[in-house]
Amino acid sequence: TWTAANVVEEQVAAIRAQIGTKRAICGLSGGVDSAVAAALVQKAIGSRLTCVYVDHGLMRKGESEQVEKDFVAATGVQLKVVDAEKRFLDALAGVSDPEQKRKIIGREFIRVFEQAASEIVAEAGSGDDAVEFLVQGTLYPDVVESGGGTGTANIKSHHNVGGLPEDLTFELVEPLRKLFKDEVRMVGQELGLPDEIVHRQPFPGPGLGIRIVGEVTRERLDLLREADAIAREELTAAGLDRDIWQCPVVLLADVRSVGVQGDGRTYGHPVVLRPVSSEDAMTADWTRLPYETLARISTRITNEVADVNRVVLDVTSKPPGTIEWE
Ligand code: XMP
Repeated sequence: TWTAANVVEEQVAAIRAQIGTKRAICGLSGGVDSAVAAALVQKAIGSRLTCVYVDHGLMRKGESEQVEKDFVAATGVQLKVVDAEKRFLDALAGVSDPEQKRKIIGREFIRVFEQAASEIVAEAGSGDDAVEFLVQGTLYPDVVESGGGTGTANIKSHHNVGGLPEDLTFELVEPLRKLFKDEVRMVGQELGLPDEIVHRQPFPGPGLGIRIVGEVTRERLDLLREADAIAREELTAAGLDRDIWQCPVVLLADVRSVGVQGDGRTYGHPVVLRPVSSEDAMTADWTRLPYETLARISTRITNEVADVNRVVLDVTSKPPGTIEWE
């Protein structure tokens, strides 16, 4: 029978068998998957795990601070923070194709992990315990949708599956590869992770980079970060966090429409609200949010975020839409 305790026991044994006496690193994204994967590996190999948090500049407002504080406080894990904003934004410059963005982000993550791994070894002061293992919080649906599972689907390249570079030198450790999100949350609970981590809404590794339809620039990211923060604030204030699976806010950066504000004409961008309800992200329905909440979000975003003059609601289920727009 499936129990979270059994999964923990099995996976801890499997991780020990795979890693032996070597070292591993784990990329933390702030999401529940990488947090639970890291906690499992920490349980298996203790301080031979170092977590790496890559600040790629595609994070939401307050996200970096949260990873640095909450997760370390809960687990006492060793954390290395890498500021890689310039690296990612340079690599993404001029790129609007969604799959190309995903591949670039996946590749840059690995390059940053490689560099971090050699620094960690150097800091540990011994040449013979090189980091050979990379822990990832890959879930079953990520594998299937990237075309890497038994299914034939190839819907989009999740950054940590189909988006990996071909010359990968790390051996992957993926203790959640057979699990769905609700099971991961149960495992996280079993491992004693706090509610704020276990019940966090999903946020994709490529971050806001795949929520800007068009080229990713720092100005566009700043604008989207503001709009997203307002939507999250209002959804939380309305007590809807646990009712929705997640609510991407998407910036249509190449679209402009005419508006009016005060006495003047505006010619700004629309943002899309994409609230969804789901069990496992393989399918989803659009969430019927209360009109008052939608109205508050719309009013605040158009008042507070310069250059956004329209808020639209995505009322498409998955299929035929995916949850993210890219
Ligand atoms: P889609 O857009 O495929 O999203 O319906 C399904 C779920 O997966 C998340 N997602 C990702 N998570 N790396 C991740 O860690 C990715 O590359 C990625 N792409 C999508 C998405 O937020 C949703 O929860």
